[in-house]
Amino acid sequence: RRILWAPERTSTNDTAIELAHDGAVHGLVVTAARQTGGRGRQGRVWQSPAGGMWFSVLVRNPCALSQAGDLTLLASVAVHRALHESGVEAEIKWPNDILVDGRKICGILAQMRADGETVDYAVIGIGINANFHREALPPDVFDHATTILTECGQPVDRPLLLARILNQLDALYSNLAQGAGGFAAVREEWKTHAHTLGRTVHVRLGDTFITGYAEDVDERGVLLVRDHAGVRHELHSGEVLF
Ligand code: BTN
Repeated sequence: RRILWAPERTSTNDTAIELAHDGAVHGLVVTAARQTGGRGRQGRVWQSPAGGMWFSVLVRNPCALSQAGDLTLLASVAVHRALHESGVEAEIKWPNDILVDGRKICGILAQMRADGETVDYAVIGIGINANFHREALPPDVFDHATTILTECGQPVDRPLLLARILNQLDALYSNLAQGAGGFAAVREEWKTHAHTLGRTVHVRLGDTFITGYAEDVDERGVLLVRDHAGVRHELHSGEVLF
């Protein structure tokens, strides 16, 4: 497996996308000790100090475009499993934030290039707040964030955790290759650990806010929220505030 390490990159997702354009093979992993331009979902900045785990995985021809949501759920299940193996008990917040004690410990930014209905490749960027104290993050961030060091009182073996995540990703992709049916079991696992389902959530969708009851995640990875008027909303992206 090719793993490219560097002391610093702008964003491992950017490097992985460039290399994908240049023909890099399926499974390539791009890591960096620090990111100077780490990116989060919805155009946000992702703080990426030394001590964290910042990496991106290139996946070629992962699935049909209609299953893009499943692909991101899959990544969060892989991280959840690997954290469990490393003794860190976490929850998943839709679509793919990983929380410990209600605070975010890992974020995932999947970027895809599609050609018609087929996803040509996906870059799955995973950021784990690992071996630094949460106070190292800016105050507006650390209110809602935590780190493995803060939660466990000791650093995690990062190469081992990375290997576990990659193994779980590999194992889970075979489910996706079998289509929506094969993915059903992974979605059930996602639901078992979901912090979001069965509660009232506030969701931001662009400039609109919706409040409702998070009923389910369907076979496309779409969050189904019923508002107080009984109207069901399908959320493909957007953000669950709480
Ligand atoms: C989020 O929760 O908003 C997603 C955060 C994703 C961060 C990771 S760190 C590695 C990869 N490179 C980036 O610039 N972002 C992702």
